[in-house]
Formats: sequence, C-alpha cells, structure tokens
Amino acid sequence: MEIAIVGSGYVGLVTGVCLAHIGHRVVCIDNDQAKIRQLQKGHVPIYEPGLEELLKKYYKSGRLSFSGSIAEGAKKATVVFIAVGTPSKKNGDADLTYIENVAREVARSMDSYKLLVEKSTVPAETGKRIERTIRLNMHPRFKNSKKGAPQFDVASNPEFLREGSAVEDFMNPDRVVIGVETKRAERLLREVYAPLKAKIVVTNLATAEMIKHASNSFLATKISFINAVSRICDRVGADVEKVAEGMGFDKRIGRAFLNAGVGYGGSCFPKDVDAFVRLAEKSGYDFHLLKSVRQVNAEQKASFVRLIEDKIWNLKDKTIAVWGLAFKPDTDDMRSAASLDVIHALQHEGAAVRAYDPKGMERARNLLPGVKLCADAYAAVKGADCLLLLTEWKEFSSADFKKVMKAMRQAIIFDGRNFLDGEALSDMGFEYYGIGRGHVQKT
Ligand code: UGA
Repeated sequence: MEIAIVGSGYVGLVTGVCLAHIGHRVVCIDNDQAKIRQLQKGHVPIYEPGLEELLKKYYKSGRLSFSGSIAEGAKKATVVFIAVGTPSKKNGDADLTYIENVAREVARSMDSYKLLVEKSTVPAETGKRIERTIRLNMHPRFKNSKKGAPQFDVASNPEFLREGSAVEDFMNPDRVVIGVETKRAERLLREVYAPLKAKIVVTNLATAEMIKHASNSFLATKISFINAVSRICDRVGADVEKVAEGMGFDKRIGRAFLNAGVGYGGSCFPKDVDAFVRLAEKSGYDFHLLKSVRQVNAEQKASFVRLIEDKIWNLKDKTIAVWGLAFKPDTDDMRSAASLDVIHALQHEGAAVRAYDPKGMERARNLLPGVKLCADAYAAVKGADCLLLLTEWKEFSSADFKKVMKAMRQAIIFDGRNFLDGEALSDMGFEYYGIGRGHVQKT
C-alpha cells in the first residue's frame, strides 16, 4: 500500500520505518528541511534501538523515502498518517495548530481519495474538526461543486509504542486500535496492519481517541499509586519492591508499571495527563483523581530532593554526581525528565552537579546549564559527596563500585529507580537509599 506519514518526529519516523518493514511503500514527510536532508543521508535524529538499521535498509531498497512537502509526498498515498506534535499550551490544552495545518495542506493538494489517520494523541472530537477543515480547504476548483470533489475519510489509530522499545512494540502490539466512521476506512486500516497479525479493536473515532487518553492516564495512575505507597513504606519500614511484586501476581493488577521511583517523565504522560484533565474540565467533569496523579508525581521529585538534603546536610558547595539524565533508559529523550527538576532544585540550593548519561548528553547540554557533563560514569563521581541514580541504564548496575567508592568523597548513593543492589552496596560500606525501601537504609 502507498502510505504517507506527515511529521517525522519520534512517532512518525518509527511508524514509517516499521510500515516499510512490513511491506508498504512509505514516504515520511516533515517541514523541517534540514531534518529531511539528514534522513536522506541515512542519519536518524533520535536514538531508538534498531531504528537506524531498518531505516537505512528500506531507504536503500526504495521502499522508504523522505519529502519536505505534503503536496509532493502525499500525492500517491491512499493512507496519510498525521503524526505531528501536539504540545501542551500554558493551560494544559493540547495545541492542535500543527494538525490543522496538515489537514489544510492535504486538502489543497488532494485530487483522489485519501484516508487521513490521526496518530498523534489528540482530544476526542479532533477527527470531526479535521474532516471539516478538509472540506473547507479543498482546491478552489472543487469549491461549490460536490460533484467531482475527491472523497476522503478520517480515522484514528492511536499509538501505544514506548520510547526505547518502539520498533519491538510496533511489531508486536498488544492491540491495534482503529477508530473509523466508514467501512472503506476500516478495510484500508485492516489492510495496513494485516501483516502484524495483531488483535484489532475497531470502534468509532471518538472512542479510539478516548482509548488513548484513558490508557496513558491509567498507566500514569499506576505509577503515582505505587509512588504514594512508597512514601508510606518509607515511614513504616516496608519494602515497596516486595509490595509491587506481591500485588503484581494478582492478574487483575499486574506487575507492570508498578516501579516506584522519582516519578514519570517524557513527552507523553505529563502532557497527556494535563490534556485529559483539561478535556474532562471542558466537558463539565472535574477529574480530581487525575489531578492527584499529577500532584503525587511532582511531590515524588520534591521528596527525593528533601531526602538528599536530610542526609547530605547543607547542599551549598556540595558536589553531587548524577547517573542518568534521559527520562527513561534506551533513549536520548530528555523531555520532562525527572532529572531536570531534581537537578534544578539541587542547583538552586547551591550544589555543584556532575552528570553522565549514555545517550542523553547532547540534549542535556542546552537543558542543564551549569552542570558538568562528564565523559563516563566514573568521571561523574569524582570528588562527589553523593551519587544519584535517576535513569536505570543497564551499564550502571554493572559498574565497578569499588572504583566508584574510591573516587567519591562520601560513599552515599540515592537510587531514584530502585535499580541497584542496595544490600550489596550497603555491605560494601555505602550508605544506600532507595525509594520506599526502609529496610535497606543504614544510616
Ligand atoms: C508511554 C506509553 O507507555 C506508551 O504506550 C505510549 O505510546 C507513549 O507513552 C505515547 O503516548 O507516545 P513512553 O513515554 O515512551 O510511553 O515511556 P514509558 O515506558 O511509558 O515511561 C514513561 C515514564 O514513566 C518514564 O519516565 C518511566 O521512567 C516512568 N515509569 C514507568 C515509572 O516511573 N514507573 C514504571 O513502573 C513505569
């Protein structure tokens, strides 16, 4: 099938490359001409395991191409995915300007049937607005004459892939959700995903949009729930990891997304929770449960900083080492990363921060002025009064902690992801603090 993807950011690029991988002819479009030139040279602007190899393979074979123009790129396509950004406005609403612009441009150059598919996370009813925008913006020759005007459909196909395992998630989805209003749209989308042999949930447009909102918000709720539990664990001497394990065996609950830590970040959960709260507000419902989810997430970072302050005493002029800056491992993405809030708070108190992240250094440079970015994990701990682990990159668990201890001024570790072996580190002589793990704290 001929497919165009408008927006070659994170979701668009992964979707485009993977659709080429399952046999379609795909053109990825973006208005950032410099990005398109880079992609045409095989340079992938983001770090995502497995993506670059596939991109190069299908670009070379001709099944995948890149274009800087919607008119040119979407011409041959029957299915046009919209995967442009929907950033948060100041009031938490999703800013849908880019989506509207894409709809308008597709409409102007449309001369045959197209199925427009929302991939970006958008508030319910966006589909209807896209449809209206297209109708109002078709080429002037079709104005006032319904006869001869190309037909089109609008559908929703929300994305559930996670950064860091996006290619794997795309190829093996738990489900594919398609929100359609016509049989033709359903048939086309079923055809797009047929090679995956996945469970397909077919529903109407508004319901598909809602499934995406509800799914991300529910996952964020799970995280905030366990984080709230972790706060009590700390006070009563219980171990949140064991609590999560014990809860997780219950099939109705499940162990996934019950990892306590310094809070969720990234380009999705914070923004999507905000957008769902706003959507509810506009529809006349006060979603206080979700507001609390947001509040617990913010408190989690603040309480981590308080713990550091309590154990380190004065932060002024102390040197703090940070391992991990990206919002999660296996990505270089720093958007709304917990590390940003934690580090800014420490700097505000006068601490000097030395940091290392396996992939996030490039992006960290602009976001973390004043932080000494170090060449590796050992350089980061040099002369440090304590070490914070903020992203659970595999390489940190296999670090040589004897070497780490030697390099540090004080052997104190705050593990913001409960990732390291706290007991082994305590036995080695480190003071180790996890999240909600009262029993391993030796003060
Ligand atoms: C999330 C969803 O998991 C995807 O299904 C969805 O497609 C995506 O948003 C999106 O809407 O585009 P992502 O943001 O890539 O994916 O990453 P997650 O693995 O969900 O992690 C989000 C944040 O939650 C990270 O900061 C992570 O450290 C944190 N987290 C996750 C926890 O603190 N505890 C957990 O148990 C799980």
